[in-house]
Amino acid sequence: MAIEPLRYEKLAGELAGMISDGILKQGDRLPSVRRLSQERRLSVSTVVQAMRQLEERGLVEARPQSGYFVRPPAMARREPEARATPDGPMPVDISQRLVHVLQAGAKPGVAPLSAALPANELLPIAALHRLYAGVARRHPHLLETGSHVHMDLPPLVRQLVRRSLAWGGPLAAEEFVITNSCTEALNLCLRAVTRPGDTVAVESPAYYLMLQLLETLGLKALEIPCDPRTGMSVEALELATRNGGVAACLLVANGSNPLGSVMPDERKRRLAALMAARGIPVIEDDIYGDLHFGDERPWPVKAFDDSGNVMLCASFSKCLSPSLRIGFIAAGRHKPAVALQKTITSGGTNPLTQMVLAEYLESGAVDRHLHSLRRTYRRQVESMQAAVSRYFPASTRIAQPQAGYVLWVELPEGIDTTQLHGRALRERLSYVPGELFSASGMYRNCLRLNCGNPHTPEIDDAIRRLGRIFGGGESAAKEGRA
Ligand SMILES: Cc1ncc(COP(=O)(O)O)c(C=O)c1O
Repeated sequence: MAIEPLRYEKLAGELAGMISDGILKQGDRLPSVRRLSQERRLSVSTVVQAMRQLEERGLVEARPQSGYFVRPPAMARREPEARATPDGPMPVDISQRLVHVLQAGAKPGVAPLSAALPANELLPIAALHRLYAGVARRHPHLLETGSHVHMDLPPLVRQLVRRSLAWGGPLAAEEFVITNSCTEALNLCLRAVTRPGDTVAVESPAYYLMLQLLETLGLKALEIPCDPRTGMSVEALELATRNGGVAACLLVANGSNPLGSVMPDERKRRLAALMAARGIPVIEDDIYGDLHFGDERPWPVKAFDDSGNVMLCASFSKCLSPSLRIGFIAAGRHKPAVALQKTITSGGTNPLTQMVLAEYLESGAVDRHLHSLRRTYRRQVESMQAAVSRYFPASTRIAQPQAGYVLWVELPEGIDTTQLHGRALRERLSYVPGELFSASGMYRNCLRLNCGNPHTPEIDDAIRRLGRIFGGGESAAKEGRA
């Protein structure tokens, strides 16, 4: 028997057909939800679900308080391209500027477009509070012993091993080290396999905190070009590591920050094999792996390595709460060196919080939460892309993230986002200037926007005003809307 499409799927299919037949044209406003609901005798929630499906397919966009509009075809939006990077390693010097940018962007009243933080209302904070109370009552012994006893709580490690089935695992319980955040995880891995003065291969553009870690550990960054869709170039990495001298490779293969790229499996396989053959440890940050936009959870590079060379790091900051400060490392053959660094750096990790997390992961609620969070982040990223293409200068290039919730934007050559940052702050707007994603100060005409908040009229207005600072003006806005 044929399977009938659901009502919302049928409506979405009919509207998609009208778009592809040109009956509804780019920029046209779709009939309102209320009108479609009355005319088609469907519930409002069915119509809203149909609209969401069209949004997910990239066919329409929601504009705050105006309704749904037919989007320009995806191909019409130009994306940034991979850029050539300096040949040799470079010392890093971004920390002072970065601290200023992040502190200024976090001030009350400033539009939250800089730090990659999610809105509180998207996180299961009430459920975590309830678990804290329950765990404190049921497990009083957790706070009764010394900090070095409960280093890696077995119930949490068990949950991580179970979850690792979706990462191409299962990984062995013995590989895990529980950390205070992903930042600590990356720090420990770097300390375990490098010495001051060493060189580390990083993505270009790279997550600024990784560069900051290199800076504070006295390490040099070797920038490897990245494709905005498919991530680090393995060919470039192969050339750059041919003559030795690289102590580690640090990357975010799933949902790079800032590009949002996801490396295809074949690239991951080649990278894992190359680094293993050359004896260069890989430090992989998979914090965005669960926040993919595709149908399947992408595997990390670690899934393609059987030599124990890859240290997989992540945390629950992006999906449960940044304040949990719990992360982990599956350290492979580097486990003893990493565990030693953990002991001398911070001892154990708060056992009460480890237990809360273990119980949350066991509850099954986590998968429902992640399912809806992925869709929400994706929608927010799409709304941000639409707003940027409406308000920024016409030749702006916009990344097409495949995971996460940050958006990389490339302005026309000559627009200096570092220079304009002060003006943006004076207008209570924030962003992270592109040069902070590179040791060599590339990307001065780029910026990163945080899409962790719902795309409210206030956020839309902030992007409109940012667009004006970058020379977008009303004419570009009209052009974008046409
Ligand atoms: C790629 C990446 N790694 C790590 C972090 C920090 O994670 P945590 O809060 O667990 O230290 C972030 C936060 O922006 C990130 O984007």
